[in-house]
Amino acid sequence: MIDIIGAGSLGLLFAGRLAASGTKVRLWTRTLEQARIIACEGITVLEKEGHVAVHVAGGDELKAAPLADWKRLNSQVPARWILIMTKQGAIGEVLDQIKSAANTESDIGIVCLQNGIGHIERIRQAYPEAVVYPAVTTEGAKRMGVASVVHAGLGATEIGCPDVLEEKQVGSFEQYVLNRLLTAGFDVCLSKEIENGIYRKLLINAVINPLTAIWRIPNGELLSDPGRIHMMHKLYEEGIQVYEANGIRWDSAWWDQIMKVCRATAENQSSMLADVLAHSMTEVASINGQLVQMAEQAGVTAPTHAVLWQLIEGMRLKEG
Ligand code: PAF
Repeated sequence: MIDIIGAGSLGLLFAGRLAASGTKVRLWTRTLEQARIIACEGITVLEKEGHVAVHVAGGDELKAAPLADWKRLNSQVPARWILIMTKQGAIGEVLDQIKSAANTESDIGIVCLQNGIGHIERIRQAYPEAVVYPAVTTEGAKRMGVASVVHAGLGATEIGCPDVLEEKQVGSFEQYVLNRLLTAGFDVCLSKEIENGIYRKLLINAVINPLTAIWRIPNGELLSDPGRIHMMHKLYEEGIQVYEANGIRWDSAWWDQIMKVCRATAENQSSMLADVLAHSMTEVASINGQLVQMAEQAGVTAPTHAVLWQLIEGMRLKEG
């Protein structure tokens, strides 16, 4: 069984595909109502063109429950493998719940798929008995309702192998979570260089997300105008300077990857645009804000990231 925390677009995509391919999934939602709808309707994953790719009914393979019930339900069936798929802003609440029912009998592996940086240390500190796997994905997904999601762009997922893996004897990650994800049709691999993947993804998000959120355009439209591409390149270059100043390895191919993600998710709303449209708190502080802080620590500046950070924070979005 895999426990997925967060029933947003990525949570629904992973839960739906995993459950449809025979993995038992427990999906943890923010509200009781969400859990009830998913348990009753199941999850539908649609292709970009609108065809149903996968439908899985609620039942034995797919259970849904509100996160507030974690302690009670986890005492009956303890979680072993957890995929945290909420946004950065919800990490505190997730940790409070899962820590309240820390497993005593077995180790827990937690795969973290948040955009941005800063959360991994937080989770490791809060939950030292768990083995934490940082992960990055470029899968594009767009939620269409409480229980359906469009698989808007095929991407790849990298999961980092923690150094402590052998020491903690966490079990055969490759044989379970990785195989389950592969069986569900995800392009997924284990990476010994996840830090590199995290910084690459941070840059992708730092370029695409704030611009799409400010201009309110889908990802592909960033490429429709030389002025927009110029702004993207400015953000990219500032980001690279921050990485250089911090001694972070980067690759000139990352610019092409940003373009590739825009094309692969052309019709998709970035997660930041989706948050802005829903008047929800965005992840801008963990993305552009983190780059600005890294710049300050290294004695350089990232002025365009700083302005976008402030503009988006200034939208006064509500938490959650
Ligand atoms: O945050 C997002 O929306 C996604 O990470 C990405 C890759 C930019 C695609 O929309």
